[in-house]
Amino acid sequence: MEERIISSEAGDQDLSFEQSLRPQTLRQYIGQDKVKANLEVFIQAARMRRETLDHVLLYGPPGLGKTTLAAIIANEMGVNLRTTSGPAIERPGDLAAILTALEPGDVLFIDEIHRLPRTIEEVLYPAMEDFCLDIVIGKGPSARSVRLDLPPFTLVGATTRAGSLSAPLRDRFGVLSRLEYYNETQLTDIVVRTAELLETEIDWLAAQELARRSRGTPRIANRLLKRVRDFAQVRGNGAIEDTLAKEALELMQVDRLGLDHIDHKLLKGIIEKYRGGPVGLETIAATIGEESQTIEDVYEPYLLQIGFLQRTPRGRIVTGAVYRHFQMEVPE
Ligand code: ADE
Repeated sequence: MEERIISSEAGDQDLSFEQSLRPQTLRQYIGQDKVKANLEVFIQAARMRRETLDHVLLYGPPGLGKTTLAAIIANEMGVNLRTTSGPAIERPGDLAAILTALEPGDVLFIDEIHRLPRTIEEVLYPAMEDFCLDIVIGKGPSARSVRLDLPPFTLVGATTRAGSLSAPLRDRFGVLSRLEYYNETQLTDIVVRTAELLETEIDWLAAQELARRSRGTPRIANRLLKRVRDFAQVRGNGAIEDTLAKEALELMQVDRLGLDHIDHKLLKGIIEKYRGGPVGLETIAATIGEESQTIEDVYEPYLLQIGFLQRTPRGRIVTGAVYRHFQMEVPE
């Protein structure tokens, strides 16, 4: 995947510092009001009954706060958070090692849970349902299965593609929460909150400008904030004011709607090479040199959300709004 300032992928920033910027409680968490209101009830109910929270599946585009919510759930339940990811678990033994090391009540967070191999999913079913593991010892005729008890735990799964989860796995989650893109007001509040934690002055218009160019995504908003803060420090007096923010964003090639050179390449590619579509995903991928999965998971969701792209049975088409955005004549 090409580097982009507005990538919604987590990347490998300084993790402890990154974490210190994240909200620790539901009360500090801005946006996702429905998800928050539900979780608040489920968490309180579980606490009142002194039970573990039911398993939670968080799904939605990258960068909207799934990992943050998992940490908040653990924090609000007063338990440890253990974190892993679908691709990190290669063999059933890897998962068994994680599960047997849990303490009662712990939250196990599995990011990109749709990438768990099916053979490992099957280990997860009895673990989620009955808090036990069925382990096969030995091979051939002398192989036997032993049942191992696990402490009760809460699995929090995160995925960008709920549709890729097998039905049996999806059915074992008691809480399914879909995260939505944030609106401009919420993102402005997030930018202001993060700026405060970074001890950086920012004026309201600048915060709004960053919010508008963040594709509905807090991770992008906070990343843009940090880069604009660099500009303010080097080119200004450290404070982030509106004009400076706009200049910095232009220099970083993040346009008024938060689209960057990759979005431009994708949209203009469809317009110039395929007369606006319809064109298949694989063809687009080959045209712009990106993986189709990355286009589908990372670039496309926001373009669909703002009505710049449409999915049709015959492929993707760009809408009139794209032509207007690029100040091109809208074809018949
Ligand atoms: N930082 C990143 N996401 C946030 C959110 N949803 N609320 C508050 N601060 C955040």
